[in-house]
Amino acid sequence: MIIIGCSHGKYLAQKIAKKLKVPYSDLKVKKFPDNEIGVRFMNNVRGKVVVLVQSFYGNVNDCVVEVLFAAETAKDLGAKKVILVAPYLPYMRKDKRYESGECISCIAIAGIISKSLDRVYVVDPHLHKDIKLSKLFSIKSVELTSNHYIIDYIKRNIKNPLIVGPDKGSLGMVKIISGKLKCKYMIMEKERISSSKVKVRINKKINLNDKNIVFVDDIISTGNTILESVKVLKKFGVKKFDCIAVHGILVENALEKLRKAKVKVVTTNTIPNNVAKIDISGLIAEALKNN
Ligand code: R5P
Repeated sequence: MIIIGCSHGKYLAQKIAKKLKVPYSDLKVKKFPDNEIGVRFMNNVRGKVVVLVQSFYGNVNDCVVEVLFAAETAKDLGAKKVILVAPYLPYMRKDKRYESGECISCIAIAGIISKSLDRVYVVDPHLHKDIKLSKLFSIKSVELTSNHYIIDYIKRNIKNPLIVGPDKGSLGMVKIISGKLKCKYMIMEKERISSSKVKVRINKKINLNDKNIVFVDDIISTGNTILESVKVLKKFGVKKFDCIAVHGILVENALEKLRKAKVKVVTTNTIPNNVAKIDISGLIAEALKNN
């Protein structure tokens, strides 16, 4: 086995290779003046299980092309099997045709990846509860969850927590986390107005007592979901908040806005950022042992 760090996966790929005690190599990626990209393996991959680690943040579409080119090249160079580890897999949020003629992105991206790869590992994909990762991909797909890392972080760092899910999509995660921590939870009601605008409310009277509010969610992107939730809870006298998320996409100055609103954000390192304090490389390394 050889672990290959693609341009947005190096930080985790190196940790994974170290944990598995297998060779590591960077994928060489070149960008041309016209925005085309070129990729090159710097190690011999013939006869090997090649693991491409790529997290799809920032210039997401370049990340996708890079992985597809790398997978095709690895096969062309005689790799035995090509595996994609996607700590954060994009395009999962568009899971149905909201408007006529629209692309169902989660189906499209899984179809494209299935054509070039042999197997895919994904950490906490954002999926509607009725959609299974294994139904999207025609290759073997493995869904990994960081829940126990998040539980452990809360246990060690936050006393007397009240776990708050900002929308009904977070219910599954919230139930598991609060169940293991043996603490109460609350789910807020969210209405999405646009990709960067949401309305949030709570539908019952709540007793917050001396609880520490801990939002948990799979993704923080613009941060607006949490910021709107904070506005609502501040009306109940809550002054400061914790927020633990799996994927810290953190666009449009989200972190700064959340800090100003007295929200302490911590994420896993599926996407590198200044608050990615929960290391999930062990989760991926353990899963890869079965190859
Ligand atoms: C949506 O259902 C997700 O679970 C997150 O709540 C959402 O993606 C967060 O996005 P934003 O930070 O832009 O509000």
